[in-house]
Amino acid sequence: MIKKGFIFDLDGVIVDTAKYHYLAWKKLAQSIDVHFSEAENEQLKGVSRVKSLEKILEWGNKTIEEDTFMELMALKNNDYLGYINTMDESEILPDVQKVLQFLIEKEQGIALGSASKNARTILKKVDLFQHFEVIVDGNDVIKGKPNPEVFLSAAKALNIQPEQCIVFEDSVAGIQAANTANMISVGIGEPSVLHEADYVFPDFTKMDSEFLNEIINK
Ligand code: BG6
Ligand code: MG
Repeated sequence: MIKKGFIFDLDGVIVDTAKYHYLAWKKLAQSIDVHFSEAENEQLKGVSRVKSLEKILEWGNKTIEEDTFMELMALKNNDYLGYINTMDESEILPDVQKVLQFLIEKEQGIALGSASKNARTILKKVDLFQHFEVIVDGNDVIKGKPNPEVFLSAAKALNIQPEQCIVFEDSVAGIQAANTANMISVGIGEPSVLHEADYVFPDFTKMDSEFLNEIINK
């Protein structure tokens, strides 16, 4: 059987955590008097925690000391973890389990490639941790998406060539990272936003076994 590497992003692909990131960043932005709406939140998708705070400060024209920066990051994450703590299987996005099950039955390589330092906690909360042969997250990489490091590390750990890997991503930065890594990029979301992807699906309910079989046998 042909074995390909399927690398899943986490936030926005497996679970809809963007809403929790939004609430936590909004509270923090308000506390330092910076305007923050859903439009700004969109721009933080796939972006690391450090880079996200840098952007928020830039939007608000604020400069702060290094230790205040660290404090604000910790505050935001504590708030975010409060939301994560309430998560369970019901927060898994539609048909994610179906696609995972299909790939498991076909004996494909399954990895997680996420910018989040909370990825392992979240996967355990929604009871999907055991399905991932490899997990590469924000704790394991130096360069964030659009740098391909996270996906290349996942391919290496799966022991599968990058050209034989497929990435599921909801962020523009992530699609760019997958393309730079020479992997097949599959956007999950809006075609107009993810136009750099090789394929785009609004969500996994629209991805059938025919597509997955075609990609495995490609
Ligand atoms: C990405 C999210 O997956 O992880 C970003 O799309 C987030 O919004 C980033 O900033 C880092 O997450 P965390 O959990 O380490 O703060
Ligand atoms: Mg994402």
